[in-house]
Amino acid sequence: KNWKGKICCIGAGYVGGPTCSVIAIKCPDYKVSIVDVNPHRIAAWNSDDLPIYEPGLDDVVKACRNRNLFFTTDVDGAIVESDIIFVSVNTPTKKHGLGSGMAADLTYIESACRRIAQVATSSKIVVEKSTVPCRTAESMRAILEANSRNGIRFDILSNPEFLAEGTAITDLFGPDRVLIGSLQTPEGLAAQKALADVYAHWVPRDRIITMNLWSSELSKLAANALLAQRISSINSLSALCEATGADVDEVAFAVGKDSRIGPKFLKASVAFGGSCFQKDILNLVYLCESLHLKEVAEYWRQVVVINEYQKQRFVRRIVHALFDTVTSKKICLLGFAFKKNTGDTRESAAIGLAKYFMDEDANVHIYDPKVTDEQILMDLSEPGISSGIEEVKKKITIFKDAYSAAEDADALVICTEWDEFKALDYQTIYQAMKKPAFIFDGRLLLDASELRKIGFKVETIGKPSPATRGY
Ligand code: NAD
Ligand code: UDX
Repeated sequence: KNWKGKICCIGAGYVGGPTCSVIAIKCPDYKVSIVDVNPHRIAAWNSDDLPIYEPGLDDVVKACRNRNLFFTTDVDGAIVESDIIFVSVNTPTKKHGLGSGMAADLTYIESACRRIAQVATSSKIVVEKSTVPCRTAESMRAILEANSRNGIRFDILSNPEFLAEGTAITDLFGPDRVLIGSLQTPEGLAAQKALADVYAHWVPRDRIITMNLWSSELSKLAANALLAQRISSINSLSALCEATGADVDEVAFAVGKDSRIGPKFLKASVAFGGSCFQKDILNLVYLCESLHLKEVAEYWRQVVVINEYQKQRFVRRIVHALFDTVTSKKICLLGFAFKKNTGDTRESAAIGLAKYFMDEDANVHIYDPKVTDEQILMDLSEPGISSGIEEVKKKITIFKDAYSAAEDADALVICTEWDEFKALDYQTIYQAMKKPAFIFDGRLLLDASELRKIGFKVETIGKPSPATRGY
């Protein structure tokens, strides 16, 4: 077939997989190859059981897989034949060395670039899709140019991804904007246009915005910092609500009516999770520190500080309501994913809560509709969370449905806002639980007054606390 162009995506993860599958379905004239070094992940992408759960993704993949969309471990082959190469590898927080616990680990970016330089036999547009510190494109250029064959050009673009998990396919089909940063040289601008032409297959031109490379890289960190800041802002107010008798949902509604503030992203919660917010803010803080912008670094660091505080505050409230001890009590966590409609557990608040309850020697029951047992056991066996799999197996039991998880429990803790938790038969659950039966709603999901009629003691984030305030 005579393709208009060939695209390769290095990294078949939560971003590379959905993003480039959507490019494939929207651009049937392009051949899209998504490659990864992890053969299990590629095998799953080629099976009926995709490696990530994302509403609508199955249909997109099925519609174009093996037509113009290919998943393969042949990284080199895909690099050689493609004109545009997305680098969509993971950039986790560094675990050791300089900047440990804060800076982004760019090892995978670097190895992808070295591979591209080594095997490329023609000029390429290399697109930074991963979230990276500002000026990473400069390092990528240095690596590419120092390792490539004579006469080969690499034009580097920044094209950060703004999709949210759980809504990735709708976000990709109708993005608020597509951002493309490039050097403002004739070659840079030509590369920018080539990528804009791909998106223009389905994104209106006025939503494809272009700018210089460094603004584009920084805009991604800035967007995530501002979004997370909104959650920490409302969560800090939720503490004030609990202490005063105000209701955080009402406060959020009232302030959100101001069109300058807006109603979205003001839902108080047990804490934000996910692979991006904390990582990207710490990355920003580290960048500020290394540029000697101490006050700016401190300002953004508070967003993460409040997020940790919110989890601890919720746990303290739970333990206090349960008569100041949870030792040997059965605590049922409903939800383990970091938000609804995903099986992703990275930085999920539920992990932090489970850790605290394990430390108190509680028996923790867990149910989540999409997270696998293996994933839960792995997350909770991490150093810093527990002493390892033996302790986890002793203290944690995983269930296949909410009713059996709740049986004989002293308390239910809503950790994830799955729709199915709203539709449970709480009368039946109440009967099966120990008395007094408690519900701690970390997501402001349930109707507390209805539950109190059944007999539950209910404590909700950001709402006055009957148990601690005596009413
Ligand atoms: P992920 O861990 O799900 O996927 C990354 C994949 O890259 C892995 O499968 C890994 O095996 C593969 N990989 C690593 N090095 C490789 C190499 N040299 N060659 C081939 N494959 C390689 O990560 P993700 O969640 O998709 O995130 C990717 C990037 O996108 C990160 O920088 C992240 O910050 C950013 N991002 C993520 C989201 C999100 O919602 N998850 C949203 C926007 C941006
Ligand atoms: C985020 C950004 O939204 C997205 O643009 C970026 O590309 C990647 O990071 P994601 O982490 O997938 O996306 O999900 P998001 O919907 O932002 O939720 C993050 C966390 O914040 C979740 O734990 C969610 O439950 C929590 N949250 C979100 C709240 O507690 N309250 C809110 O009002 C919104």
